[in-house]
Amino acid sequence: MRTHRCGELGREQVGEAVRLGGWVHRRRDLGGLVFIDLRDRAGIVQLSCDPRWTSPDVMARASAAGTESVVLVKGTVGLRPEVARDTTLATRDVEVHVTDLRVVGPAVTPAIPVARKEGEELPAEELRLKNRVLDLRRPELQASLLLRHRLAQRARRTLSDLGFLEIETPILTKPTPEGARDYLVPSRVHEGEFYALPQSPQIYKQLLMVAGYDRYFQIARCFRDEDLRADRQPEFTQIDIEASFVAQEDVQGFVEQVLVAMWDEAGESVAAPFRHLSYRDAMERWGIDKPDLRFGFEIQDFTPFVQPDAAPFVHEALAKGGRLRGILAPGAASASRKEIDGLTAAAKELGAGGLIWARRTGAAWEGQGVKAIGLDTLTRIRGADGDLLLAVPGADGVTSPTLHAVRTLLTRRPGVTPSAAHAFCWIVDFPLFEKDPATGERIFVHHPFTSPHVEDIPFLDSDPFRCRALHYDAVYNGNELGSGSIRITDPALQQKIFSLLGIGPEEIRRRFGFLLDGLAAGAPPHGGFAIGFDRVAMLLSGASSLRDVIAFPKTTAARALFEGAPIPVAERELHALHLQLRREK
Ligand code: AMO
Repeated sequence: MRTHRCGELGREQVGEAVRLGGWVHRRRDLGGLVFIDLRDRAGIVQLSCDPRWTSPDVMARASAAGTESVVLVKGTVGLRPEVARDTTLATRDVEVHVTDLRVVGPAVTPAIPVARKEGEELPAEELRLKNRVLDLRRPELQASLLLRHRLAQRARRTLSDLGFLEIETPILTKPTPEGARDYLVPSRVHEGEFYALPQSPQIYKQLLMVAGYDRYFQIARCFRDEDLRADRQPEFTQIDIEASFVAQEDVQGFVEQVLVAMWDEAGESVAAPFRHLSYRDAMERWGIDKPDLRFGFEIQDFTPFVQPDAAPFVHEALAKGGRLRGILAPGAASASRKEIDGLTAAAKELGAGGLIWARRTGAAWEGQGVKAIGLDTLTRIRGADGDLLLAVPGADGVTSPTLHAVRTLLTRRPGVTPSAAHAFCWIVDFPLFEKDPATGERIFVHHPFTSPHVEDIPFLDSDPFRCRALHYDAVYNGNELGSGSIRITDPALQQKIFSLLGIGPEEIRRRFGFLLDGLAAGAPPHGGFAIGFDRVAMLLSGASSLRDVIAFPKTTAARALFEGAPIPVAERELHALHLQLRREK
């Protein structure tokens, strides 16, 4: 039906007879002339219907072609008059002189516009998600999904060239703990039994190593029923890898190659190896395990400088084992009271009692912090002319997130520029366990298959929170791109970790017997990683939401607005699945 795509036409085709198919992006009727911007995946080209080359009945059909209708066109490529060139189009120099035009897919009036005037705001996201097919026609979304495709192909090629085999693992499976709730699927043939959708292919990829496949990868769909945040989706995609006979550095080397290749695909040249930071160092200097290293404003420990003239609340915090930590922000002494109030509000939101602040002008300190910290203490902290000091006393569990939030706001101040466009790093030496903030229970930081550092194994019983894990995260400009670890291969150690997590022997057997049997069948040392592919696609396409790089995403309330899911099911369907609903009052 077509000789070209719309966006492919240029000067080289002038004089050629072409056939095109596409959507009516815009139509302008100018008394006797009709111009249509015809759009397809490749771009937009202007159709010119002019009595000089267009017959009256074709002209009438062009004039009646509604916005977003699909038309098939025949014509000849001509040069556009110099004055009429549209510099926003790649096809700016040419137009198609229409000799035939047929509407083959008429469209009802679109619920949301696809063509927008410059600077015109997008309709509300909910409306766009409800009308996803129209929204997906938007050139920006098409560009993001096209980039996503290219990134996937590049990652696939890179891994395949490194000897990784693409192997699919089941979707109807047994629960894989990754820290979220499972989506369960009732079995019709086995009454009262359920499959779980995989939170990740974790156990299967380990079993593939035990089975001797050496290097595995999969562009894998994962399902997690968790409270959604802006950067999470209930189903998402990982570039999942696992390799045998490797140490942490080997896995990191593979992941770096994939990331560098994907960034290259997006036209960004980045270099590996990435910088390594320990979890403790990251928490100490940036207050978070995914620091944005494009900016300064590092957190400092002011505790050693505290003098008797600091306010009682500061001394009380220190007496309870806390510290006085803060940031000296160069040049930020000019911050307005409103801005400082904003920083204080962010600190309070994260549980800090408030935010101590003081400005240094010349050699003098001024601000509420002079009283709170005391001049003697401030003198020892020193700082420089133009600094804004921001500090919080208390336990690290409060000061770290607070100062991370404060730092993030500081990086957004006008005039603050990043030192580099791309800042990758590895965060290593995570703790193996942490306390669940809600219940106080011991939980795993990564997943229960992560190996402890060999030298920390003796502390598993006596001081489990001291144990570091062979777990590593890849971080980019403050975003966690993915994580991985070296796995436990000793079935006895694996059992011990399960029991330290409070899982009883029977439950271990029931839930993880197939893994333990696998490990007992001769397991090579192995480790792997999973890159959050949606996140990478989002960052590289410059999108602000994961929903802009997923064709049919869910809302933050885990609903699919376009197709309308989830939905209630009929009683007889429940019956076939041996289910009965209990209505919560
Ligand atoms: P983890 O759970 O850290 O590791 O997941 C790896 C990466 O997947 C992305 N991600 C998500 N993206 C969108 N929506 C979500 N709900 C979501 N959850 C996670 C993140 C994250 O860094 N099996 C291990 C990997 C391994 O050890 O090999 C795992 O799944 O970018």
